[in-house]
Amino acid sequence: MTIRVCMGSSCYLRGSYQLVEKLKELQKKYNFKLYGSLCFGRCSQGICVEIDGRLFTGVSPENVEELLKKVLRDA
Ligand code: FES
Repeated sequence: MTIRVCMGSSCYLRGSYQLVEKLKELQKKYNFKLYGSLCFGRCSQGICVEIDGRLFTGVSPENVEELLKKVLRDA
């Protein structure tokens, strides 16, 4: 699994840095590659995260583990 977190300014202001920190923790539990990305163009709906080519919006440190579990279930 590959995860790209938006590093654009709008997502940054919404806490993308904290989200990356949370994902680094979760990497010990789940197997995925983590990258930063340029703006996905959905700034008003951030934080935006792309998982295996699928874009998710409204991601936060609080809900990202639930999202990962859902994506893994659906895979
Ligand atoms: S800044 Fe994240 S989608 Fe534009």
